[in-house]
Amino acid sequence: MVTGVMKSGEIINKAPVVTGLVNYEQAGKEFSWEAVKKELFLPDNPAKKANIAYEAIDKHAQSWRKNKVALYWEGPDGTRQKYTFLELKNLSDKCANMLRSIGVKKGDRVFIFLPRLPELYISIIAIAKLGAIAGPMFSAFGPDAVRDRLQNSEAKVLITTQELKERVDTVLWELPKLERIVLVDYRKEYELEEKDVCYATLMKDASDKFEAVGLELEDPLYILYTSGTTGKSKGITHVHYDMISYYITTKWVLDLRDEDIYWCTADPGWVTGTVYGLWGPWLNGVSSYIYDGRFDAAKWYEIIQTYKITVWYTAPTALRMLMKAGDDLIKKYDLTSLRYICSVGEPLNPEVIRWGVKVYQLPIHDTWWQTETGAIMIANYPCLPIKPGSMGKPFPGTKAAIIDGKGNELPAGQHGLLALQPGWPSMLRAVWGDEKRFREYFSINGWYATGDTAYKDEDGYFWFVGRADDVINTSGHRVGPFEVESALLEHRAVAEAGVIGKPDVERGEIIKAFVVLREGFAISKALEEEIKVFIKHRLAAHAYPREIEFCGNLPKTRSGKIMRRLLKARDLGLPTGDISTLED
Ligand code: WTA
Repeated sequence: MVTGVMKSGEIINKAPVVTGLVNYEQAGKEFSWEAVKKELFLPDNPAKKANIAYEAIDKHAQSWRKNKVALYWEGPDGTRQKYTFLELKNLSDKCANMLRSIGVKKGDRVFIFLPRLPELYISIIAIAKLGAIAGPMFSAFGPDAVRDRLQNSEAKVLITTQELKERVDTVLWELPKLERIVLVDYRKEYELEEKDVCYATLMKDASDKFEAVGLELEDPLYILYTSGTTGKSKGITHVHYDMISYYITTKWVLDLRDEDIYWCTADPGWVTGTVYGLWGPWLNGVSSYIYDGRFDAAKWYEIIQTYKITVWYTAPTALRMLMKAGDDLIKKYDLTSLRYICSVGEPLNPEVIRWGVKVYQLPIHDTWWQTETGAIMIANYPCLPIKPGSMGKPFPGTKAAIIDGKGNELPAGQHGLLALQPGWPSMLRAVWGDEKRFREYFSINGWYATGDTAYKDEDGYFWFVGRADDVINTSGHRVGPFEVESALLEHRAVAEAGVIGKPDVERGEIIKAFVVLREGFAISKALEEEIKVFIKHRLAAHAYPREIEFCGNLPKTRSGKIMRRLLKARDLGLPTGDISTLED
Protein backbone atom coordinates (compact mmCIF):
# COMPACT_ATOMS: atom_id res chain seq x y z
CA MET A 1 0.00 0.00 0.00
CA VAL A 2 1.41 3.37 -0.94
CA THR A 3 1.11 6.61 0.94
CA GLY A 4 -1.40 9.05 -0.52
CA VAL A 5 -0.60 12.59 -1.47
CA MET A 6 -2.85 15.00 0.39
CA LYS A 7 -4.85 17.24 -1.87
CA SER A 8 -4.45 21.02 -1.53
CA GLY A 9 -5.95 22.53 1.60
CA GLU A 10 -8.98 23.88 -0.30
CA ILE A 11 -12.09 24.07 1.86
CA ILE A 12 -15.58 25.38 1.16
CA ASN A 13 -17.08 26.75 4.36
CA LYS A 14 -20.80 27.20 4.80
CA ALA A 15 -23.20 29.12 7.02
CA PRO A 16 -24.25 27.43 10.30
CA VAL A 17 -27.12 24.96 10.01
CA VAL A 18 -30.19 25.26 12.24
CA THR A 19 -32.35 22.24 11.33
CA GLY A 20 -31.63 18.61 10.43
CA LEU A 21 -28.09 17.53 11.26
CA VAL A 22 -26.85 20.57 13.14
CA ASN A 23 -23.70 19.22 14.77
CA TYR A 24 -21.89 16.26 13.24
CA GLU A 25 -19.58 15.49 16.19
CA GLN A 26 -22.37 15.67 18.73
CA ALA A 27 -24.71 13.52 16.62
CA GLY A 28 -22.00 10.86 16.36
CA LYS A 29 -21.51 10.76 20.12
CA GLU A 30 -25.20 10.55 20.96
CA PHE A 31 -26.21 8.33 18.05
CA SER A 32 -28.24 5.14 18.44
CA TRP A 33 -30.21 3.26 15.77
CA GLU A 34 -32.82 2.43 18.45
CA ALA A 35 -33.51 6.13 18.86
CA VAL A 36 -33.96 6.55 15.11
CA LYS A 37 -36.37 3.62 15.10
CA LYS A 38 -38.42 5.26 17.83
CA GLU A 39 -38.45 8.54 15.93
CA LEU A 40 -39.66 6.88 12.72
CA PHE A 41 -42.36 4.54 13.99
CA LEU A 42 -45.68 5.96 15.12
CA PRO A 43 -46.45 4.97 18.69
CA ASP A 44 -49.62 3.28 17.42
CA ASN A 45 -47.77 1.23 14.83
CA PRO A 46 -49.84 -1.98 14.59
CA ALA A 47 -48.44 -4.64 16.94
CA LYS A 48 -44.68 -5.17 16.72
CA LYS A 49 -44.91 -5.91 13.04
CA ALA A 50 -43.91 -3.38 10.47
CA ASN A 51 -44.04 -2.63 6.77
CA ILE A 52 -42.08 0.07 4.98
CA ALA A 53 -45.09 0.84 2.77
CA TYR A 54 -47.13 1.65 5.86
CA GLU A 55 -44.43 3.96 7.22
CA ALA A 56 -43.81 5.66 3.87
CA ILE A 57 -47.34 5.97 2.50
CA ASP A 58 -50.29 4.78 4.62
CA LYS A 59 -49.14 6.57 7.74
CA HIS A 60 -49.09 9.91 5.90
CA ALA A 61 -52.43 9.13 4.21
CA GLN A 62 -53.92 9.00 7.69
CA SER A 63 -52.30 12.22 8.86
CA TRP A 64 -52.43 15.91 7.97
CA ARG A 65 -50.26 15.04 4.96
CA LYS A 66 -53.06 13.06 3.26
CA ASN A 67 -53.71 15.73 0.64
CA LYS A 68 -50.05 16.66 0.28
CA VAL A 69 -48.57 15.75 -3.11
CA ALA A 70 -46.28 12.73 -2.70
CA LEU A 71 -45.43 12.32 -6.38
CA TYR A 72 -45.17 14.88 -9.15
CA TRP A 73 -44.74 12.98 -12.39
CA GLU A 74 -43.83 14.12 -15.87
CA GLY A 75 -43.61 11.96 -18.99
CA PRO A 76 -41.27 12.32 -21.94
CA ASP A 77 -44.08 13.94 -23.98
CA GLY A 78 -44.74 16.57 -21.32
CA THR A 79 -47.77 14.81 -19.74
CA ARG A 80 -48.01 15.75 -16.07
CA GLN A 81 -49.63 13.97 -13.15
CA LYS A 82 -49.81 14.46 -9.41
CA TYR A 83 -50.56 11.96 -6.65
CA THR A 84 -51.23 12.79 -3.03
CA PHE A 85 -50.25 10.43 -0.22
CA LEU A 86 -53.91 9.39 0.04
CA GLU A 87 -54.11 8.69 -3.70
CA LEU A 88 -50.92 6.67 -3.57
CA LYS A 89 -52.30 4.71 -0.65
CA ASN A 90 -55.50 3.89 -2.51
CA LEU A 91 -53.75 3.02 -5.76
CA SER A 92 -51.15 0.85 -4.09
CA ASP A 93 -53.89 -0.86 -2.04
CA LYS A 94 -55.70 -1.61 -5.30
CA CYS A 95 -52.48 -2.82 -6.89
CA ALA A 96 -51.74 -5.06 -3.88
CA ASN A 97 -55.23 -6.61 -4.19
CA MET A 98 -54.69 -7.00 -7.92
CA LEU A 99 -51.37 -8.80 -7.41
CA ARG A 100 -52.93 -10.98 -4.74
CA SER A 101 -55.70 -11.91 -7.19
CA ILE A 102 -53.10 -13.37 -9.56
CA GLY A 103 -51.50 -15.37 -6.79
CA VAL A 104 -48.74 -13.16 -5.36
CA LYS A 105 -47.97 -14.05 -1.74
CA LYS A 106 -45.46 -12.99 0.90
CA GLY A 107 -41.92 -13.83 -0.20
CA ASP A 108 -42.74 -14.13 -3.95
CA ARG A 109 -40.46 -12.25 -6.31
CA VAL A 110 -42.25 -9.71 -8.48
CA PHE A 111 -39.99 -8.10 -11.05
CA ILE A 112 -40.71 -4.80 -12.71
CA PHE A 113 -39.48 -3.89 -16.17
CA LEU A 114 -40.98 -0.47 -16.79
CA PRO A 115 -40.01 3.04 -17.76
CA ARG A 116 -40.36 5.50 -14.85
CA LEU A 117 -44.16 5.42 -15.05
CA PRO A 118 -46.34 6.13 -12.00
CA GLU A 119 -47.24 2.40 -12.16
CA LEU A 120 -43.62 1.55 -11.43
CA TYR A 121 -43.79 3.42 -8.14
CA ILE A 122 -47.28 2.19 -7.31
CA SER A 123 -46.15 -1.42 -7.94
CA ILE A 124 -43.09 -1.11 -5.73
CA ILE A 125 -45.27 0.11 -2.85
CA ALA A 126 -47.89 -2.58 -3.51
CA ILE A 127 -45.30 -5.36 -3.59
CA ALA A 128 -43.94 -4.19 -0.21
CA LYS A 129 -47.49 -4.09 1.19
CA LEU A 130 -47.91 -7.75 0.28
CA GLY A 131 -44.59 -8.70 1.84
CA ALA A 132 -43.48 -9.84 -1.61
CA ILE A 133 -40.03 -8.94 -2.94
CA ALA A 134 -39.64 -6.31 -5.65
CA GLY A 135 -37.05 -6.52 -8.41
CA PRO A 136 -36.89 -3.23 -10.29
CA MET A 137 -35.07 -3.48 -13.63
CA PHE A 138 -33.78 -0.63 -15.78
CA SER A 139 -35.85 -0.26 -18.97
CA ALA A 140 -32.71 -0.17 -21.14
CA PHE A 141 -31.84 -3.77 -20.27
CA GLY A 142 -31.65 -6.26 -23.11
CA PRO A 143 -33.05 -9.83 -23.08
CA ASP A 144 -29.93 -11.39 -21.51
CA ALA A 145 -29.89 -9.00 -18.55
CA VAL A 146 -33.61 -9.54 -17.97
CA ARG A 147 -33.37 -13.33 -18.30
CA ASP A 148 -30.45 -13.55 -15.84
CA ARG A 149 -32.38 -11.61 -13.21
CA LEU A 150 -35.69 -13.43 -13.61
CA GLN A 151 -33.94 -16.78 -13.69
CA ASN A 152 -31.75 -16.21 -10.68
CA SER A 153 -34.56 -14.78 -8.54
CA GLU A 154 -37.11 -17.32 -9.81
CA ALA A 155 -39.53 -14.46 -10.27
CA LYS A 156 -43.19 -15.45 -10.32
CA VAL A 157 -44.62 -12.28 -11.84
CA LEU A 158 -43.24 -9.68 -14.23
CA ILE A 159 -44.80 -6.24 -14.59
CA THR A 160 -43.92 -4.63 -17.91
CA THR A 161 -45.25 -2.84 -20.98
CA GLN A 162 -46.27 -4.34 -24.28
CA GLU A 163 -43.26 -2.77 -25.96
CA LEU A 164 -40.69 -3.94 -23.43
CA LYS A 165 -42.22 -7.39 -23.33
CA GLU A 166 -40.96 -7.95 -26.85
CA ARG A 167 -37.46 -8.10 -25.39
CA VAL A 168 -38.56 -10.72 -22.90
CA ASP A 169 -40.37 -12.85 -25.48
CA THR A 170 -37.13 -14.21 -26.93
CA VAL A 171 -36.07 -15.60 -23.53
CA LEU A 172 -39.50 -16.60 -22.14
CA TRP A 173 -38.88 -20.28 -22.82
CA GLU A 174 -35.94 -20.12 -20.40
CA LEU A 175 -38.17 -18.85 -17.57
CA PRO A 176 -40.39 -21.74 -16.44
CA LYS A 177 -40.94 -20.19 -12.99
CA LEU A 178 -42.52 -17.07 -14.42
CA GLU A 179 -46.29 -17.50 -14.07
CA ARG A 180 -47.75 -14.15 -15.03
CA ILE A 181 -46.86 -11.10 -17.05
CA VAL A 182 -48.79 -7.98 -16.14
CA LEU A 183 -49.00 -5.56 -19.07
CA VAL A 184 -49.30 -1.97 -17.96
CA ASP A 185 -50.15 -0.42 -21.32
CA TYR A 186 -52.33 -3.18 -22.65
CA ARG A 187 -54.27 -1.93 -25.63
CA LYS A 188 -57.38 -3.58 -27.01
CA GLU A 189 -55.97 -4.68 -30.35
CA TYR A 190 -53.18 -6.58 -28.64
CA GLU A 191 -53.80 -10.25 -28.17
CA LEU A 192 -53.02 -11.50 -24.70
CA GLU A 193 -50.71 -14.46 -24.72
CA GLU A 194 -50.87 -17.38 -22.36
CA LYS A 195 -49.25 -15.81 -19.29
CA ASP A 196 -50.37 -12.24 -19.93
CA VAL A 197 -52.83 -10.25 -17.88
CA CYS A 198 -53.86 -6.64 -18.21
CA TYR A 199 -52.97 -4.18 -15.42
CA ALA A 200 -55.79 -1.73 -16.16
CA THR A 201 -58.51 -4.39 -16.30
CA LEU A 202 -57.39 -6.08 -13.10
CA MET A 203 -57.01 -2.74 -11.34
CA LYS A 204 -60.58 -1.77 -12.26
CA ASP A 205 -61.92 -4.83 -10.45
CA ALA A 206 -59.62 -4.62 -7.43
CA SER A 207 -60.72 -3.07 -4.15
CA ASP A 208 -58.82 -0.04 -2.87
CA LYS A 209 -58.82 -1.35 0.68
CA PHE A 210 -55.81 -3.34 1.68
CA GLU A 211 -54.05 -3.55 4.99
CA ALA A 212 -50.27 -3.67 4.59
CA VAL A 213 -49.11 -7.10 5.75
CA GLY A 214 -47.40 -6.91 9.15
CA LEU A 215 -43.88 -8.22 8.65
CA GLU A 216 -40.80 -9.07 10.61
CA LEU A 217 -38.29 -6.28 10.10
CA GLU A 218 -35.89 -8.84 8.61
CA ASP A 219 -38.30 -9.85 5.83
CA PRO A 220 -36.90 -9.08 2.36
CA LEU A 221 -37.99 -5.92 0.56
CA TYR A 222 -36.18 -5.84 -2.78
CA ILE A 223 -33.43 -7.42 -4.84
CA LEU A 224 -31.20 -5.33 -7.06
CA TYR A 225 -28.58 -6.96 -9.22
CA THR A 226 -25.09 -5.57 -9.33
CA SER A 227 -21.87 -6.54 -11.02
CA GLY A 228 -18.82 -8.22 -9.60
CA THR A 229 -15.55 -9.09 -11.30
CA THR A 230 -16.51 -12.66 -12.10
CA GLY A 231 -19.70 -14.53 -12.82
CA LYS A 232 -23.18 -13.19 -13.41
CA SER A 233 -24.45 -10.20 -11.47
CA LYS A 234 -25.32 -10.68 -7.82
CA GLY A 235 -28.83 -10.29 -6.41
CA ILE A 236 -28.22 -7.92 -3.54
CA THR A 237 -31.06 -8.50 -1.11
CA HIS A 238 -32.39 -5.88 1.29
CA VAL A 239 -34.99 -6.02 4.05
CA HIS A 240 -37.74 -3.85 5.55
CA TYR A 241 -35.48 -2.92 8.46
CA ASP A 242 -33.44 -0.88 5.92
CA MET A 243 -36.02 1.86 6.37
CA ILE A 244 -34.29 3.05 9.55
CA SER A 245 -31.23 3.93 7.47
CA TYR A 246 -33.27 5.39 4.59
CA TYR A 247 -35.21 7.64 6.88
CA ILE A 248 -32.34 9.17 8.80
CA THR A 249 -29.83 9.45 5.93
CA THR A 250 -32.44 11.23 3.81
CA LYS A 251 -33.09 13.61 6.65
CA TRP A 252 -29.49 14.29 7.61
CA VAL A 253 -27.56 13.97 4.36
CA LEU A 254 -30.09 15.09 1.74
CA ASP A 255 -31.40 17.52 4.36
CA LEU A 256 -35.05 16.99 3.34
CA ARG A 257 -37.82 18.87 5.12
CA ASP A 258 -41.59 18.95 4.81
CA GLU A 259 -41.64 22.02 2.58
CA ASP A 260 -39.17 20.62 0.04
CA ILE A 261 -39.82 19.60 -3.56
CA TYR A 262 -37.17 17.00 -4.14
CA TRP A 263 -35.82 15.58 -7.38
CA CYS A 264 -33.74 12.42 -7.54
CA THR A 265 -32.68 11.89 -11.14
CA ALA A 266 -31.89 8.15 -10.80
CA ASP A 267 -33.98 5.25 -12.14
CA PRO A 268 -35.25 2.67 -9.59
CA GLY A 269 -33.37 0.04 -11.62
CA TRP A 270 -30.35 1.45 -9.76
CA VAL A 271 -30.24 1.54 -6.02
CA THR A 272 -30.28 5.34 -5.80
CA GLY A 273 -33.60 5.50 -7.65
CA THR A 274 -35.17 2.91 -5.35
CA VAL A 275 -33.83 4.09 -2.02
CA TYR A 276 -33.73 7.86 -2.53
CA GLY A 277 -36.19 8.15 -5.44
CA LEU A 278 -39.13 6.91 -3.36
CA TRP A 279 -38.55 5.35 0.04
CA GLY A 280 -36.26 8.00 1.55
CA PRO A 281 -38.36 11.06 0.69
CA TRP A 282 -41.69 9.35 1.43
CA LEU A 283 -40.56 8.03 4.80
CA ASN A 284 -39.92 11.69 5.55
CA GLY A 285 -43.30 12.75 4.10
CA VAL A 286 -41.62 14.84 1.39
CA SER A 287 -42.91 15.56 -2.15
CA SER A 288 -40.84 13.81 -4.80
CA TYR A 289 -40.65 14.75 -8.47
CA ILE A 290 -40.04 12.06 -11.11
CA TYR A 291 -39.11 12.74 -14.72
CA ASP A 292 -39.56 9.84 -17.11
CA GLY A 293 -37.37 11.31 -19.83
CA ARG A 294 -33.80 11.34 -20.99
CA PHE A 295 -31.07 13.73 -20.03
CA ASP A 296 -31.39 17.11 -21.68
CA ALA A 297 -29.70 20.15 -20.15
CA ALA A 298 -32.39 22.68 -21.09
CA LYS A 299 -35.22 20.35 -20.02
CA TRP A 300 -33.53 19.70 -16.68
CA TYR A 301 -33.26 23.41 -15.92
CA GLU A 302 -36.85 23.89 -17.01
CA ILE A 303 -37.89 21.21 -14.51
CA ILE A 304 -36.10 22.94 -11.65
CA GLN A 305 -37.71 26.25 -12.62
CA THR A 306 -41.24 24.90 -13.17
CA TYR A 307 -41.48 22.64 -10.14
CA LYS A 308 -39.39 24.93 -7.95
CA ILE A 309 -37.17 22.02 -7.03
CA THR A 310 -35.44 22.74 -3.73
CA VAL A 311 -33.28 19.65 -3.21
CA TRP A 312 -31.60 17.83 -6.08
CA TYR A 313 -29.83 14.47 -5.94
CA THR A 314 -27.94 13.66 -9.11
CA ALA A 315 -24.71 12.19 -10.48
CA PRO A 316 -21.28 13.47 -11.55
CA THR A 317 -21.80 12.44 -15.20
CA ALA A 318 -24.98 14.51 -15.40
CA LEU A 319 -23.26 17.45 -13.72
CA ARG A 320 -20.33 17.23 -16.13
CA MET A 321 -22.76 17.21 -19.06
CA LEU A 322 -24.54 20.26 -17.62
CA MET A 323 -21.19 21.95 -17.26
CA LYS A 324 -20.47 21.20 -20.91
CA ALA A 325 -23.85 22.65 -21.93
CA GLY A 326 -22.48 26.02 -20.84
CA ASP A 327 -23.22 28.77 -18.35
CA ASP A 328 -25.27 30.88 -20.78
CA LEU A 329 -28.03 28.27 -20.76
CA ILE A 330 -28.32 28.61 -16.98
CA LYS A 331 -28.96 32.35 -17.29
CA LYS A 332 -32.21 31.63 -19.17
CA TYR A 333 -33.75 29.88 -16.16
CA ASP A 334 -34.73 30.89 -12.68
CA LEU A 335 -33.05 28.30 -10.49
CA THR A 336 -33.34 30.24 -7.25
CA SER A 337 -35.63 27.61 -5.69
CA LEU A 338 -32.62 25.26 -5.37
CA ARG A 339 -31.21 25.21 -1.88
CA TYR A 340 -29.28 21.95 -1.69
CA ILE A 341 -27.50 19.68 -4.17
CA CYS A 342 -26.05 16.19 -3.68
CA SER A 343 -24.23 13.78 -5.96
CA VAL A 344 -23.51 10.05 -6.00
CA GLY A 345 -22.10 7.23 -8.09
CA GLU A 346 -18.59 8.25 -9.05
CA PRO A 347 -15.89 10.59 -7.84
CA LEU A 348 -17.13 14.17 -7.94
CA ASN A 349 -14.42 16.31 -9.49
CA PRO A 350 -13.36 19.39 -7.47
CA GLU A 351 -13.74 21.37 -10.69
CA VAL A 352 -17.44 20.47 -10.84
CA ILE A 353 -17.92 21.60 -7.23
CA ARG A 354 -16.23 24.93 -7.96
CA TRP A 355 -18.40 25.33 -11.04
CA GLY A 356 -21.53 24.58 -8.95
CA VAL A 357 -20.61 27.33 -6.53
CA LYS A 358 -20.15 29.72 -9.45
CA VAL A 359 -23.34 28.97 -11.40
CA TYR A 360 -25.83 27.72 -8.81
CA GLN A 361 -24.28 29.60 -5.88
CA LEU A 362 -24.37 26.25 -4.09
CA PRO A 363 -21.70 23.70 -3.28
CA ILE A 364 -22.45 20.14 -4.44
CA HIS A 365 -22.37 17.55 -1.66
CA ASP A 366 -20.74 14.29 -2.65
CA THR A 367 -22.13 11.10 -1.08
CA TRP A 368 -20.62 7.62 -1.21
CA TRP A 369 -22.45 4.33 -0.90
CA GLN A 370 -23.20 1.08 -2.77
CA THR A 371 -26.07 -1.21 -3.71
CA GLU A 372 -24.77 -3.43 -0.90
CA THR A 373 -24.71 -0.72 1.78
CA GLY A 374 -28.36 0.12 1.00
CA ALA A 375 -27.96 3.71 2.13
CA ILE A 376 -25.48 6.59 2.16
CA MET A 377 -22.44 5.69 4.29
CA ILE A 378 -19.95 8.51 3.71
CA ALA A 379 -21.08 12.01 2.91
CA ASN A 380 -20.70 15.73 3.00
CA TYR A 381 -23.23 17.25 5.40
CA PRO A 382 -24.96 20.61 5.49
CA CYS A 383 -23.17 21.42 8.74
CA LEU A 384 -19.61 20.54 7.69
CA PRO A 385 -17.18 22.34 5.39
CA ILE A 386 -16.57 20.62 2.05
CA LYS A 387 -13.11 19.61 0.92
CA PRO A 388 -13.61 19.44 -2.86
CA GLY A 389 -12.69 15.97 -4.12
CA SER A 390 -13.43 14.24 -0.81
CA MET A 391 -16.40 11.91 -0.30
CA GLY A 392 -16.80 13.37 3.19
CA LYS A 393 -17.15 11.65 6.55
CA PRO A 394 -18.90 8.47 7.73
CA PHE A 395 -22.56 8.75 8.67
CA PRO A 396 -22.99 9.23 12.44
CA GLY A 397 -23.21 5.84 14.14
CA THR A 398 -21.25 4.05 11.40
CA LYS A 399 -17.56 3.32 11.29
CA ALA A 400 -15.56 3.46 8.06
CA ALA A 401 -11.87 2.64 7.97
CA ILE A 402 -8.94 2.17 5.65
CA ILE A 403 -7.51 -1.30 6.18
CA ASP A 404 -4.84 -3.59 4.80
CA GLY A 405 -5.55 -7.09 3.48
CA LYS A 406 -5.44 -8.51 7.02
CA GLY A 407 -7.94 -6.08 8.49
CA ASN A 408 -5.47 -3.78 10.26
CA GLU A 409 -6.48 -0.14 10.25
CA LEU A 410 -4.06 2.11 8.40
CA PRO A 411 -3.08 5.59 9.55
CA ALA A 412 -4.24 8.82 7.92
CA GLY A 413 -2.79 9.44 4.49
CA GLN A 414 -2.18 5.80 3.60
CA HIS A 415 -3.97 4.19 0.69
CA GLY A 416 -5.82 0.96 1.49
CA LEU A 417 -9.10 -0.89 1.27
CA LEU A 418 -12.21 1.00 2.24
CA ALA A 419 -14.08 -1.07 4.82
CA LEU A 420 -17.11 -0.63 7.06
CA GLN A 421 -17.93 -2.07 10.43
CA PRO A 422 -20.94 -4.35 9.82
CA GLY A 423 -24.23 -3.79 11.60
CA TRP A 424 -25.92 -0.72 10.13
CA PRO A 425 -29.62 -1.35 9.40
CA SER A 426 -29.49 -1.29 5.57
CA MET A 427 -26.52 -3.60 5.11
CA LEU A 428 -27.19 -6.29 2.47
CA ARG A 429 -28.69 -9.44 4.03
CA ALA A 430 -27.92 -11.87 1.24
CA VAL A 431 -26.75 -12.39 -2.28
CA TRP A 432 -29.84 -14.12 -3.61
CA GLY A 433 -29.21 -17.85 -3.77
CA ASP A 434 -25.45 -17.49 -3.30
CA GLU A 435 -24.22 -17.74 0.27
CA LYS A 436 -20.60 -17.99 -0.86
CA ARG A 437 -20.58 -14.70 -2.69
CA PHE A 438 -22.35 -13.09 0.28
CA ARG A 439 -19.65 -14.28 2.66
CA GLU A 440 -16.89 -12.94 0.42
CA TYR A 441 -17.86 -9.42 1.50
CA PHE A 442 -16.91 -10.30 5.07
CA SER A 443 -13.77 -12.32 4.43
CA ILE A 444 -11.44 -9.76 6.03
CA ASN A 445 -11.66 -10.18 9.79
CA GLY A 446 -14.77 -8.50 11.08
CA TRP A 447 -15.07 -5.95 8.27
CA TYR A 448 -17.41 -5.45 5.36
CA ALA A 449 -15.05 -4.90 2.41
CA THR A 450 -16.40 -2.40 -0.12
CA GLY A 451 -14.14 -3.28 -3.04
CA ASP A 452 -13.02 0.36 -3.25
CA THR A 453 -9.62 1.76 -2.32
CA ALA A 454 -9.38 5.09 -0.56
CA TYR A 455 -7.55 7.03 2.13
CA LYS A 456 -8.53 9.13 5.10
CA ASP A 457 -6.97 12.49 5.93
CA GLU A 458 -5.99 13.94 9.32
CA ASP A 459 -9.43 15.54 9.69
CA GLY A 460 -11.30 12.26 9.12
CA TYR A 461 -12.39 13.04 5.52
CA PHE A 462 -12.33 10.08 3.12
CA TRP A 463 -10.87 10.35 -0.41
CA PHE A 464 -11.74 7.87 -3.17
CA VAL A 465 -8.80 6.30 -4.99
CA GLY A 466 -10.26 3.54 -7.20
CA ARG A 467 -11.69 0.05 -7.28
CA ALA A 468 -9.66 -2.79 -5.78
CA ASP A 469 -11.11 -5.10 -8.47
CA ASP A 470 -11.81 -4.84 -12.21
CA VAL A 471 -15.39 -3.59 -11.89
CA ILE A 472 -15.98 -0.71 -14.31
CA ASN A 473 -17.85 2.45 -13.34
CA THR A 474 -19.25 4.05 -16.48
CA SER A 475 -21.47 7.11 -15.95
CA GLY A 476 -22.09 5.88 -12.41
CA HIS A 477 -23.17 2.39 -13.54
CA ARG A 478 -21.30 -0.63 -12.31
CA VAL A 479 -20.43 -3.03 -15.09
CA GLY A 480 -18.61 -6.30 -14.57
CA PRO A 481 -16.00 -7.00 -17.26
CA PHE A 482 -16.94 -10.68 -17.21
CA GLU A 483 -20.56 -10.00 -18.19
CA VAL A 484 -19.48 -7.96 -21.19
CA GLU A 485 -16.87 -10.56 -22.15
CA SER A 486 -19.51 -13.31 -21.96
CA ALA A 487 -21.91 -11.32 -24.10
CA LEU A 488 -19.14 -10.63 -26.64
CA LEU A 489 -18.44 -14.34 -26.91
CA GLU A 490 -22.03 -14.88 -28.00
CA HIS A 491 -21.32 -12.94 -31.18
CA ARG A 492 -20.54 -15.26 -34.05
CA ALA A 493 -17.29 -13.46 -34.98
CA VAL A 494 -15.75 -13.32 -31.50
CA ALA A 495 -13.29 -15.98 -30.35
CA GLU A 496 -11.93 -14.27 -27.25
CA ALA A 497 -12.58 -11.00 -25.44
CA GLY A 498 -11.03 -8.99 -22.61
CA VAL A 499 -12.78 -5.94 -21.21
CA ILE A 500 -11.44 -2.98 -19.22
CA GLY A 501 -12.56 0.45 -18.03
CA LYS A 502 -10.75 3.29 -19.76
CA PRO A 503 -10.67 6.75 -18.14
CA ASP A 504 -13.02 9.22 -19.83
CA VAL A 505 -13.59 12.89 -19.02
CA GLU A 506 -17.38 12.82 -19.29
CA ARG A 507 -18.30 9.26 -18.30
CA GLY A 508 -15.63 8.59 -15.69
CA GLU A 509 -14.78 5.40 -17.53
CA ILE A 510 -15.84 3.92 -20.84
CA ILE A 511 -15.88 0.22 -21.62
CA LYS A 512 -13.10 -0.91 -23.92
CA ALA A 513 -13.01 -4.42 -25.37
CA PHE A 514 -10.06 -6.27 -26.80
CA VAL A 515 -11.37 -8.82 -29.24
CA VAL A 516 -9.76 -11.79 -30.97
CA LEU A 517 -11.76 -12.77 -34.06
CA ARG A 518 -12.64 -16.29 -35.12
CA GLU A 519 -11.07 -17.81 -38.21
CA GLY A 520 -12.69 -16.52 -41.35
CA PHE A 521 -13.65 -13.06 -40.01
CA ALA A 522 -11.77 -9.99 -41.12
CA ILE A 523 -11.35 -6.80 -39.14
CA SER A 524 -13.62 -4.03 -40.42
CA LYS A 525 -15.42 -0.92 -39.22
CA ALA A 526 -18.72 -2.59 -40.11
CA LEU A 527 -17.98 -5.62 -37.95
CA GLU A 528 -16.93 -3.37 -35.09
CA GLU A 529 -20.26 -1.53 -35.29
CA GLU A 530 -22.17 -4.80 -35.54
CA ILE A 531 -20.54 -6.09 -32.35
CA LYS A 532 -21.31 -2.86 -30.49
CA VAL A 533 -24.98 -2.95 -31.48
CA PHE A 534 -25.14 -6.65 -30.61
CA ILE A 535 -24.01 -5.99 -27.03
CA LYS A 536 -26.26 -2.96 -26.70
CA HIS A 537 -29.28 -5.05 -27.62
CA ARG A 538 -28.39 -8.24 -25.77
CA LEU A 539 -27.08 -6.77 -22.52
CA ALA A 540 -27.86 -3.12 -21.93
CA ALA A 541 -27.44 0.25 -23.56
CA HIS A 542 -24.97 1.46 -20.93
CA ALA A 543 -22.88 -1.73 -21.00
CA TYR A 544 -21.64 -1.85 -24.59
CA PRO A 545 -17.98 -1.26 -25.42
CA ARG A 546 -17.61 2.20 -26.91
CA GLU A 547 -14.15 1.18 -28.03
CA ILE A 548 -13.15 -2.13 -29.59
CA GLU A 549 -9.58 -3.05 -30.40
CA PHE A 550 -8.99 -6.17 -32.46
CA CYS A 551 -5.91 -8.16 -31.57
CA GLY A 552 -4.20 -11.45 -32.35
CA ASN A 553 -4.30 -12.82 -28.81
CA LEU A 554 -4.97 -11.78 -25.22
CA PRO A 555 -2.52 -11.85 -22.32
CA LYS A 556 -3.51 -14.70 -19.99
CA THR A 557 -2.23 -16.26 -16.81
CA ARG A 558 -0.95 -19.80 -16.98
CA SER A 559 -4.25 -20.88 -15.46
CA GLY A 560 -6.02 -19.26 -18.41
CA LYS A 561 -7.44 -16.09 -16.81
CA ILE A 562 -7.43 -12.98 -18.95
CA MET A 563 -5.03 -10.45 -17.41
CA ARG A 564 -7.23 -7.39 -17.56
CA ARG A 565 -4.79 -5.38 -15.51
CA LEU A 566 -2.13 -5.95 -18.11
CA LEU A 567 -4.51 -4.98 -20.92
CA LYS A 568 -5.26 -1.81 -19.04
CA ALA A 569 -1.64 -0.97 -18.25
CA ARG A 570 -0.64 -1.48 -21.88
CA ASP A 571 -3.57 0.56 -23.11
CA LEU A 572 -2.79 3.48 -20.83
CA GLY A 573 0.97 3.19 -21.19
CA LEU A 574 1.43 2.41 -17.50
CA PRO A 575 3.98 0.09 -15.88
CA THR A 576 2.81 -3.50 -16.35
CA GLY A 577 3.79 -4.60 -12.82
CA ASP A 578 4.18 -8.25 -11.88
CA ILE A 579 3.70 -10.43 -14.96
CA SER A 580 5.26 -13.58 -13.53
CA THR A 581 2.04 -15.54 -13.98
CA LEU A 582 1.72 -14.59 -17.65
CA GLU A 583 1.54 -17.63 -19.90
CA ASP A 584 4.43 -18.03 -22.34
C1 WTA B 1 -18.64 4.03 -6.79
C2 WTA B 1 -24.29 3.50 -6.19
C3 WTA B 1 -16.52 7.71 -5.79
C4 WTA B 1 -17.79 3.15 -5.88
C5 WTA B 1 -24.96 4.20 -5.00
C6 WTA B 1 -18.81 2.22 -5.26
C7 WTA B 1 -18.32 6.30 -5.85
C8 WTA B 1 -19.75 1.99 -6.42
C9 WTA B 1 -19.12 7.25 -5.17
C10 WTA B 1 -21.14 1.60 -5.98
C11 WTA B 1 -18.51 8.49 -4.81
C12 WTA B 1 -20.30 5.48 -5.54
N1 WTA B 1 -17.21 8.67 -5.14
N2 WTA B 1 -17.04 6.54 -6.15
N3 WTA B 1 -19.20 9.44 -4.19
N4 WTA B 1 -20.34 6.72 -5.00
N5 WTA B 1 -19.09 5.24 -6.08
O1 WTA B 1 -23.58 -0.17 -6.22
O2 WTA B 1 -16.84 2.44 -6.64
O3 WTA B 1 -24.15 1.27 -8.22
O4 WTA B 1 -18.24 1.03 -4.79
O5 WTA B 1 -24.12 2.15 -5.88
O6 WTA B 1 -19.77 3.23 -7.13
O7 WTA B 1 -22.00 1.56 -7.08
P1 WTA B 1 -23.52 1.14 -6.90
